[in-house]
Amino acid sequence: MLRLSLPHVDDDAIAAAVAVLRSGQLVHGAEGTAFECELAAYLGVRHAVVASSGTAALHLALVALGVGPGDAVLVPDFTFPATGNVVRLVGARPVLVDVDPGTYCVTPEALEAAMAAFRGPERLRAVMPVHEFGQPAAIDAIVALAQRHGLAVVEDAACAIGATAGGRKLGTFGEIGCFSLHPRKTLTTGEGGVLATDDDALARRLRRLRSHGIERDAAGLHFVEAGYNLRLTDIQSALGRAQLPKLDGWIVARRALAQVYREALAPLADAGRLTLPVAAEGHSWQTFMTVLADGADRSAVIRALAAQGIEANLGAQCLSVLAPFQGCGGGPVAARLYRQGLALPFCEQYGAAEVSRVAAALAVALA
Ligand SMILES: Cc1ncc(COP(=O)(O)O)c(C=O)c1O
Repeated sequence: MLRLSLPHVDDDAIAAAVAVLRSGQLVHGAEGTAFECELAAYLGVRHAVVASSGTAALHLALVALGVGPGDAVLVPDFTFPATGNVVRLVGARPVLVDVDPGTYCVTPEALEAAMAAFRGPERLRAVMPVHEFGQPAAIDAIVALAQRHGLAVVEDAACAIGATAGGRKLGTFGEIGCFSLHPRKTLTTGEGGVLATDDDALARRLRRLRSHGIERDAAGLHFVEAGYNLRLTDIQSALGRAQLPKLDGWIVARRALAQVYREALAPLADAGRLTLPVAAEGHSWQTFMTVLADGADRSAVIRALAAQGIEANLGAQCLSVLAPFQGCGGGPVAARLYRQGLALPFCEQYGAAEVSRVAAALAVALA
């Protein structure tokens, strides 16, 4: 089966994880601290805080910013449900905003319209733009808009580690940026997440909340507030540290592969059978999602590809049609992307041969 993507765990990463297993220090320790320093340098921020998943990172971000009952948070309608779930879990209300059909991201214009239309009774507190599949949302304009309205920005850069806007890494524009290190992501520790921030006080609180509310000093441990255990293990940090120096090279390969895909699928796009994703500068291409024409039966296409040994799937969810998000707004573009979006096999280990095989099978399936 040509898998949707393959985790990229080379022998050096495996050796590094084995060394940790032999060391006796398994929970967050020296490897985790070193991974955080290297991530902060890579991202160009003062602080990187590792956590047990991208969802944990998003959850910690909202708690650290004090978002809770009585608050509302603007969330794209097209994303993985974790973005909206964490808003619900802190007791706030997600306000779902429709996305752009080409970039799959929220636009500043749609956010501004949602702010103008918002009637409460909650208080709008934050915006969570998602850099969907590594595609940069218009983050400069979104941050400027949020500042004008006094809202915090938590970037959901779960899919976007290494992606950039204007040469600056995504996830470093808002108060906090959150990344996922799940195996579908370009850099993976099995499960894992990262928070990025330039704010010293926020970083300190994030670290405290991540680990039982503990602060340490020369006198020992102090349980300062109620916290979680959302730590990453040192085994996982060792895996991440081995991959980080290779990440930019992998993204270069992904950009080239996206271009190969665009050329191979151009005849289907020209024939109106599907649309291709916008290829913005700085895109890190975590996923390559096309959108099938209305009327095409996506389930049948997925089955036809599977019969040829090719895995394909939907891209992301439309939150407003899911049970936890009823009555939270939403829009038709997200609903269509959820219905007709088709993610194709994509990772830096694939090349022109895999793309031609997928394009040929897709052409038959859509004939
Ligand atoms: C946009 C988005 N946000 C959040 C998450 C959650 O990350 P994790 O699976 O690491 O908890 C994902 C994961 O797919 C995602 O795509």
